[in-house]
Amino acid sequence: MITLGIETSCDETAAAIVENGIVLSSEVSSSVHLHSKYGGVVPEIASRFHVEYISPVLDKALLDAGCSISDIDLVAVTDRPGLPGSVLIGKVFAESIGFAAEVPVVKINHLQGHVISCFLGKSAMSKLDTLFPFLGVVVSGGHTSIYACNAINDFSIIGRTRDDAAGEAFDKVAKIMDMGYPGGPAIERKATEFDPGSGLIKFPKALLRDKTDLDFSFSGIKTAVMYYWKGSKPTEEERRRVSYSFQHAVVETVTTKIQRAAEKTGFNVLAVGGGVVNNNIFRRSLEAMARGMSLELYLPEKDYCSDNAAMMAALGECLHLCSRVEG
Ligand code: KG4
Ligand code: ZN
Repeated sequence: MITLGIETSCDETAAAIVENGIVLSSEVSSSVHLHSKYGGVVPEIASRFHVEYISPVLDKALLDAGCSISDIDLVAVTDRPGLPGSVLIGKVFAESIGFAAEVPVVKINHLQGHVISCFLGKSAMSKLDTLFPFLGVVVSGGHTSIYACNAINDFSIIGRTRDDAAGEAFDKVAKIMDMGYPGGPAIERKATEFDPGSGLIKFPKALLRDKTDLDFSFSGIKTAVMYYWKGSKPTEEERRRVSYSFQHAVVETVTTKIQRAAEKTGFNVLAVGGGVVNNNIFRRSLEAMARGMSLELYLPEKDYCSDNAAMMAALGECLHLCSRVEG
C-alpha cells in the first residue's frame, strides 16, 4: 500500500510517500525564515507560502520516491488542529488528488501524527499493534499534551497545557532576549555556552505540587523570565544564564509530568514527539527517566521531530487498515 501524506497545518509545507510504514520520501519546505522578524508565525504569510509551494513539494516527494500519482492508493492529510487557512489549503489539495486518482482521503489529527513519528524508520512501526496501550506525548510549538494511546483509533487526552505550549515558551523567551525565531534552537545553543557552576536562576516549575495533576502551565515561567530580564543587564553572559536556567526548568517540569503519567497509567511504553524533542538536553532527560523506570522509550529521529508529512502518511495507513478491519 502506497500512501501520500500532506501536512500544512502551520509553517511547514510537507508531502511524503510511505509504503507499508516505510518512508520512501519526505519533503518539507518551511516558511520559518519569513516569520522570524515577527517573532512568531504570521498566518497569512504561512497560507501564501503553502499555496506557492505545495505543488513543487509534492513533485519532489514523488520524484524521490520514484513513483507517480497513479501509484498512490491512499491520501492522508492533516485536518486539525492548526491555522485554519493553512489547514484548508492542505485539505483542498489532498481532496483534489484523492478525487483525481480515485483513492480515499483520510483526515488526520496532527498531534496523533507527532506521536506516530516516534516509530518512523524503526522496526517498531511494523509491530505497532503490539505496543498498545502506551503513553503518547506531544511537546511542540502549539501543544504540550499527554495521551493514553489505547489503540490506533483511540487516543484519550490525560494532560494538556492550560496556557502556553512548551515550544511557545521557548519562542517567547527567545523573543524577550532578542534571540530570533524559532526560539528553541537558539535557546539550546546559548545554554550550551553556560557554565552552571556560575549560578542558576530558579525559575518556577508550575503545577508540580499536586502529583495527580498531569496538566502543564508555562505562562508563569515566561513572565518570570521577562521580569528577570528587565531587571538585569542584558549581557551575553546573562543571556546564557537565562537560556540555561529556563531550559533546565522546562525540561525538568515536562520530564516529571511524563514520569507521573507513566506511574499513573502503569504503561511501560512511552513515545514523545514534537518540535521540542529536537532538544538534546530534553532527549537525555527522557532517556534517563525511562531507564530509571524501565520504560521502553521511543523518540523521533531528528528529521521527524518537527512538522512533516511522513508521520501523517504512516498514521493514515494504520487508520485506514484499522477501519477496513472494523468495517
Ligand atoms: O512540532 P513543531 O515543528 O510545530 C508545531 O506543531 O508546533 O514544533 C515547533 C516548536 C517551536 O516552538 C520551536 O521553538 C520548538 O519546537 N523547538 C525547540 C527546539 N527545536 C525546535 N525547542 C527546544 N529546543 C530545540 N532544539
Ligand atoms: Zn507539529
